[in-house]
Formats: sequence, structure tokens, C-alpha cells
Amino acid sequence: MAVRKTCFRLIACGILIALGVTFLITQKTRQPLYQFPVNKAWINTTVFQNYRTNEGPGENFNTSEVERIRKWVMTYFNPDTDLTIKKSQVSLGKSFFKYEKKPKKKVKIGQYYYQLLPESSPFLGKHFRSCAVVGNSGILLDSHCGPQIDSADFVFRSNLPDLEGFESDVGTKSNFTTMNQPVLPHEYNGYLTNTTIQEKFVERLRLIHDQILHIPAMVTSNGLVETQFITLMIVKHQLPLKVTFAPTNVYQKLTKLWNDSEFKPNRPSTGNLLFALAACLCDQIHLYGYYPFSEDGKGRKIKYHYYGNIGSLKKHKLPEEYRAFLTFHQRKGLVLHTEPCDDSRL
Ligand SMILES: *[C@@H]1O[C@H](CO)[C@@H](O)[C@H](O)[C@H]1NC(C)=O
Ligand SMILES: *[C@@H]1O[C@H](CO)[C@@H](O)[C@H](O)[C@H]1NC(C)=O
Ligand SMILES: *[C@@H]1O[C@H](CO)[C@@H](O)[C@H](O)[C@H]1NC(C)=O
Ligand SMILES: *[C@@H]1O[C@H](CO)[C@@H](O)[C@H](O)[C@H]1NC(C)=O
Ligand SMILES: *[C@@H]1O[C@H](CO)[C@@H](O)[C@H](O)[C@H]1NC(C)=O
Repeated sequence: MAVRKTCFRLIACGILIALGVTFLITQKTRQPLYQFPVNKAWINTTVFQNYRTNEGPGENFNTSEVERIRKWVMTYFNPDTDLTIKKSQVSLGKSFFKYEKKPKKKVKIGQYYYQLLPESSPFLGKHFRSCAVVGNSGILLDSHCGPQIDSADFVFRSNLPDLEGFESDVGTKSNFTTMNQPVLPHEYNGYLTNTTIQEKFVERLRLIHDQILHIPAMVTSNGLVETQFITLMIVKHQLPLKVTFAPTNVYQKLTKLWNDSEFKPNRPSTGNLLFALAACLCDQIHLYGYYPFSEDGKGRKIKYHYYGNIGSLKKHKLPEEYRAFLTFHQRKGLVLHTEPCDDSRL
């Protein structure tokens, strides 16, 4: 009896060990969905800082690489379901949403918020040939890229940037503009009480016309007062813009997306969200104003933002997100513009 028992135990142990080993092997051989065959493509940033995109637009794309990026992104992110909370998902005063970041407080959907919620994603069934994704780096100053950016079929912009006075460098077309709540206290300080500042803010929102404003409303509870203020202004002034509100888990999804690649950005940024959207929706992505260095290849000082007064980055560093964009560019999955623009249109 005892021999039989030991024997059984040994077999059971053996099976468990075999399973464990198989598990370890499959864990090890699982490759990220987006990874270049050559494990670490060496990127010489010195060369890149002097790079010019001379070829005509459209000649810089490898359609199978574009598709490869799209497939990878869409495994984790779907603009139809992940871009915005929809009206059908909540009911006024009743529904509670939890914020993504700690403390994971719950929040009740307010009247204006509810009123502005879209019935469905504004991107449902949409597809664009050429897209410009515009970051806010000072590299855009004196770039004369405005007309080229405006020639894109669809223009994405980050964090409600200033446009007035910069039109020739950054353009005016804005089809999708994100706005993180801290923009209000930082750039419209006094917005709660000062009507001059409120007017300035509303005038800025008017530049979006009837296009989309995206608010990451559910990320952190710090932005609650700002979100209420923004929605109030839109309703009160009957602004024609459409609003989308990021659902609770979007940044988690973007984290998983990047985790399944050869790149490891610390945390997904707004630039990351715009990239993911554009990868799903556009055949030809052109990035402008993404440049995380304090100097260009010719030693010219580069401001952190093309507008305002945030100063420049202190250190030369290559953030992982930029390394990714640079790599996509070299593989012709998108075009990263860092040089002044010529007369070509997208
Ligand atoms: C990068 O390219 C520059 C210009 O061609 C060259 O001088 C430099 O040695 C290269 N750096 C590396 C690390 O390969
Ligand atoms: C285009 O990209 C694919 C990978 O997605 C690669 O296999 C192919 O060699 C590239 N073609 C050209 C012409 O660079
Ligand atoms: C993008 O916005 C402009 C106005 O800024 C508008 O004329 C154009 O139709 C929009 N494009 C799309 C594809 O909605
Ligand atoms: C409101 O803001 C404007 C512009 O910054 C400023 O000139 C004005 O003094 C402010 N008004 C009050 C009452 O603080
Ligand atoms: C990141 O990817 C690894 C496999 O490459 C997986 O084991 C891990 O669970 C992933 N982490 C997240 C947060 O998805």
C-alpha cells in the first residue's frame, strides 16, 4: 500500500513539474506582438537630429508596417469602445464611476456632464487617409508647418494648445483636441471667478468649432472641479463642439498595449493616446511637434512648448515613447517631422 502511495505521489509530482516546465518555456518564448525581428535596432539620434524628410508625402510609408502597427494597437485599443463613455452606459444622478487612479473615489454623473455625453463614439465607421498628430514641442517654432498640418484630412492636438499667433507654424485645423484638467489652473488661472479669463477660455474652445474635445475625466478625482467647469461653459455658451470623456480603464489598456511591444514607456501619455487613435483610424500618420530634447541638431535651443513659458527640458534624454516613434519612422510606419516643412501637402 505504502509503495503504491509513494509511486502515485511521484507520478503526480512528475506531472506537476512537467506542466511547470512547459509553462516556463511558453512564457519565455512568447514574443511581444509588436517587435522588430532584430531585437534591438540601434538608433543613432545624432543622425536623426539632422534628419530631413525630403521625399514627397505618401512615399514614406510601408503599408505592411502600417498594418502591422494597426493590428498590434487594435488588439488592445478600440476607438469605438475605449475612447469615450457613452450616454447609454449611465443614467443621470444614478450611475457611479470609479476613478482610475487612487484614491479610487466614486463620482455621480452631473447634469451638464450627462447632457454632453455622446450616444456613440464619434469615430464609429470613420477612416482617414492622412492624419497630422501635433505635439507641442518648441521644435515647431519657425517650422512653417502650418499649411502642411492643415492639409491633413484629420488633425489631432494635445492639451488645448495656443493656436493664435502660431498659425503659420502649427496651423489651425483641429479635429480632435485633448484637454487635461490642469490646463485650467495653469493657463487660465482665476478661471472660477474672473470673467475676463472665462471669456478667454471660451474663445479658445470656439476654435474647435464643431469638432471633438476629449477630456480624460475619469483618470483622477483631482480634476472634478475643472471637469464641472468645462462642461458648464460648453453648455452655457452653447458651443457646437462634441465632447468625449475617456472611460475609466483607458490608460490601463494603453499600458498593456505598450507592454506587448519592444518599447517600455513609463506611463502612457496624451501623445500615446493620440498615437493609438491615429494608428486605428489613419493610413498615413504624420507626427509634428514631438521632440523631447532641449537642443536641435544645430545647437538651437528648443522650448518645451512652442507657446507659453514652461522653459526647456534640463537634460538630454531619449524617452521611451520618442524612441518608439523614431523606430516606427525608420520602419516607415509613420513620418516623424522634426525639420521645417516645405510646400508639399499631405
Ligand atoms: C552617429 O552618427 C554621427 C554622424 O554620422 C557619427 O559621427 C557618430 O559617430 C554616430 N554615433 C554612433 C554611436 O554610432
Ligand atoms: C515593409 O515592412 C515589412 C514589415 O512590416 C517588412 O517585412 C518589409 O521588408 C518592408 N518593406 C520595405 C520595402 O521596406
Ligand atoms: C476637420 O476640421 C475642419 C475644421 O477645422 C473641417 O473643415 C473638416 O471637415 C474636419 N475633417 C473631418 C474629417 O471631419
Ligand atoms: C482678471 O484677469 C485679467 C487678465 O488676466 C486681469 O487683467 C484682471 O485684473 C483680472 N480681474 C480681477 C477682478 O482679478
Ligand atoms: C507584460 O507582459 C508580460 C509578458 O511579456 C506579462 O507576463 C505581464 O503580465 C504583462 N503585464 C501587464 C501589466 O500586462
